[in-house]
Amino acid sequence: MFQIRQETVQDNTAIRQIHERAFGQSAEADLVDRLRISCPDQISLVAVAGDQLVGHILFTPAKIEYTDGSKVSGIGLAPLAVLPEFQGKGVGSLLIQAGLDQLHELKQSFVIVLGHPGYYSRFGFEPAYRYQISCEFTGENREAFMIYLLNHPAFQAKEGVARYHPDFSAFA
Ligand SMILES: CC(C)(COP(=O)(O)OP(=O)(O)OC[C@H]1O[C@@H](n2cnc3c(N)ncnc32)[C@H](O)[C@@H]1OP(=O)(O)O)[C@@H](O)C(=O)NCCC(=O)NCCS
Repeated sequence: MFQIRQETVQDNTAIRQIHERAFGQSAEADLVDRLRISCPDQISLVAVAGDQLVGHILFTPAKIEYTDGSKVSGIGLAPLAVLPEFQGKGVGSLLIQAGLDQLHELKQSFVIVLGHPGYYSRFGFEPAYRYQISCEFTGENREAFMIYLLNHPAFQAKEGVARYHPDFSAFA
C-alpha cells in the first residue's frame, strides 16, 4: 500500500505540510527546508500512498567527538513525520527501516536519534549512554537519546558527545 522512495524537487511543498501537520508547528518543516540547502549530503525519503505523500524522514551527517580527541562519523535521524490520518499504519516503521537498510549498504557506522524510546527500540536503537555517548540536546531524559550501531565490532565504547549538523543547534 505504501511505497518508499527518495524525495524529488516536486515533493518540497508536500514534505513541509507533513511536518507542519504532524508536529503542529513549522519549526521542523523550516529545519528540513534549511538542511536541503545547507546539507546536500543527506538521505531524504518519502512514503507515498498512490500519488499522495504521507510521510517523510531525513538522515544527515553527524559525528561523535570523544574526550580523547578522536572522532567518528555517522548519521543523525531527524525529523520523522507521518500525516496524522496515516499514523499507526506502519508508515514510520517503513521509512526508518528503508533508511537503515540504505545506511547499512553505505557502510555507515551509527545512527543517532532523539525520540521516543518505546518506538525506536523496536528497530534496534539503544540508549546511547550505554556506550558513554551523550548529546547536547538530551536534557533530563537521557533514555530519549539513542544510537543504532551499524558496525558493531568496530564501534568503541568510550566517553563522547554526539553532534548533529550545525543547523540543529539553531533549531534546539
Ligand atoms: C512518531 C511517528 C513518526 C510514528 O509514525 P507511524 O507511522 O504512526 O508509526 P508506525 O505505524 O510505524 O508505528 C506505530 C507504533 O508506534 C507507536 N508510537 C507512535 N508514536 C509513539 C510515541 N510517541 N511513543 C511510543 N510509541 C509510539 C504506536 O503506539 C504504534 O505501536 P503499535 O505498533 O504497538 O501499535 C508519527 O506518529 C508522527 O509523525 N508523530 C508526530 C511527529 C513525531 O513525533 N515525530 C517523531 C519525532 S522522534
